[in-house]
Amino acid sequence: MANSRRDKADSYTQRAHREGYPARSVYKLEEINQTHHLIKPGDSVLDVGAAPGSWTLFTHRELIKGKGKIVSVDLNPLNLNPVPPTVTAFVGDAFSKEIRQRLVEEGPYDAIISDAAPMTTGNRTVDTTRSEWLAEQVVLLSQEQLKTHGNLVIKIFQGGGQEAVLKTMRTMFQKAKAFKPKACRDDSFEIYLIGLDKKE
Ligand SMILES: C[S@@+](CC[C@H](N)C(=O)[O-])C[C@H]1O[C@@H](n2cnc3c(N)ncnc32)[C@H](O)[C@@H]1O
Repeated sequence: MANSRRDKADSYTQRAHREGYPARSVYKLEEINQTHHLIKPGDSVLDVGAAPGSWTLFTHRELIKGKGKIVSVDLNPLNLNPVPPTVTAFVGDAFSKEIRQRLVEEGPYDAIISDAAPMTTGNRTVDTTRSEWLAEQVVLLSQEQLKTHGNLVIKIFQGGGQEAVLKTMRTMFQKAKAFKPKACRDDSFEIYLIGLDKKE
């Protein structure tokens, strides 16, 4: 059992605590970026579903390295103290008319990263349907607000709909694929859809 994903998950939690990140999800973004090189210093990044703020903090520290900007949006406030100087944070539904307008005013973006997830109900059909809806909304936002050559990462719960989202992404990007980071819990049915190099 020592090498099980659950054990790894616990070590990720401890490491996040040691390194000052509010959530272990940071190591999913680390792995996604190590393998796919989504974000570089100076980039403008939109982080959707950003709270408590691990992806935002990691992007500030390790990816844009304090240069560029991050726009973070979540239903809940970030739990970062201090909020890094590159970050503009919005609290609310990313896809409401009001917040969407604010995101558009800050765009366009070199990268859009979404770890957004619905509150889970335990009913797999309901949860995957809600996750797919969120993913579709992020794709729609990316069609408008992601720059040409920009990169996208979206979390989605596996349940059938991810193939349709991926199909749309294949029309938008030079390369689009599904990726499951090692940092995902064994029993989690989440996966990440990655779009690289947005077409003109
Ligand atoms: C797994 S958490 C994100 C963790 C974050 N990436 C981090 O590293 O700290 C998923 C987040 O998606 C957010 N979320 C779900 N639906 C949303 C929506 N419509 N607009 C904004 N945020 C949303 C939730 O509030 C929740 O904080």
